[in-house]
Amino acid sequence: MKAVLCVRHGPPEALELADLPDPVPGPGEVVVEVSAIGLNFFDTLIIRDLYQQKPELPFSPGGEFSGRVVALGEGVTFPKPGARVCGYLSYGAARERVVARADRLAVVPDDLDLVRAAGLIVTYGTSLYALRDRGDLKPGETLAVLGAAGGVGLAAVELGKILGARVIACASSADKIAFARAHGADVGLDYTQEDLKARLKELGGADGIDVVFDPVGGEQSEQALRALGWCGRLLVIGFAAGEIPKLPLNLLLLKNCDARGVAFGTQARRDGAWLTAAIAELMDYARAGRISAHVDATFPLARCAEALAEIAGRRVKGKVVLTTGL
Ligand SMILES: NC(=O)c1ccc[n+]([C@@H]2O[C@H](COP(=O)([O-])OP(=O)(O)OC[C@H]3O[C@@H](n4cnc5c(N)ncnc54)[C@H](OP(=O)(O)O)[C@@H]3O)[C@@H](O)[C@H]2O)c1
Repeated sequence: MKAVLCVRHGPPEALELADLPDPVPGPGEVVVEVSAIGLNFFDTLIIRDLYQQKPELPFSPGGEFSGRVVALGEGVTFPKPGARVCGYLSYGAARERVVARADRLAVVPDDLDLVRAAGLIVTYGTSLYALRDRGDLKPGETLAVLGAAGGVGLAAVELGKILGARVIACASSADKIAFARAHGADVGLDYTQEDLKARLKELGGADGIDVVFDPVGGEQSEQALRALGWCGRLLVIGFAAGEIPKLPLNLLLLKNCDARGVAFGTQARRDGAWLTAAIAELMDYARAGRISAHVDATFPLARCAEALAEIAGRRVKGKVVLTTGL
């Protein structure tokens, strides 16, 4: 089988396409012939050894996949050979066959295409976990989403609307804001043109912003925190801007508010039942047209480096997905 391999840490161009022996499933595992691989911002970090997870070299990037079950390990009765499935792996999915725990896979309904299914787990799973489990977002609350046209950002916009919030989409261009608004955001804010804190305070009104969803970091985190209202929640998702901000704790005291970390990957690994239930819920939303699972572009497996360069270059709306042709 073909596999994209990170054999030494470095930029996407350093990735190699290699031939590897087909994998064999162990007890409780299945082999999936991979059709599509969802890429994420963290793939651009993990290959440079800049991510919290540090897999041994060589490894494949790609944290999520979809495809068909082709071999069952000892003791596995479900899913059956031929079943269309998707799953989360943290890393290692950018290859034509993967081994996965059978009880961690979700069956993809016939009316959901495998490309969209491959890009749904990490972004929507993170945003669902962030907004509902960690953020306690309630109907009628005001939610500000930074990086609102990106992978987790778009998911937060759409899930924020499902959870009944008023959603302010914050992004770096009119085009990205228009995209987020077309996917349900009530208001747009261009943080390259407008002062983030001042505009959020204006949009939050007397009560302020209830929840900030922040996958961007850098200077914007503190600006957004300063616009939170009483008992507001700043959801710390990631630092796509590159800088990990240091926040003054007096702001939490003055506003009686929280900064809450969100670690989807660890949550998914710690609680497999939660993950499969979340994926099933998200697939139902996708089938019903309540979330878009928008794929901006697909690239063949061999062009993984180009796909990752699109993400690192801040050019992607929603997701980029690799396809194997299988
Ligand atoms: N905590 C978790 O469990 C979890 C799970 C998944 C992802 N994450 C993190 O969330 C962040 C976003 O992930 P994603 O996959 O959604 O990424 P993405 O699709 O690339 O979106 C990131 C967004 O960040 C903004 N951004 C600002 N400065 C940027 C820069 N210098 N380079 C690239 N983007 C920049 C961009 O929006 P504008 O151009 O509009 O500013 C972009 O749309 C990453 O830090 C990732 O590691 C965390």
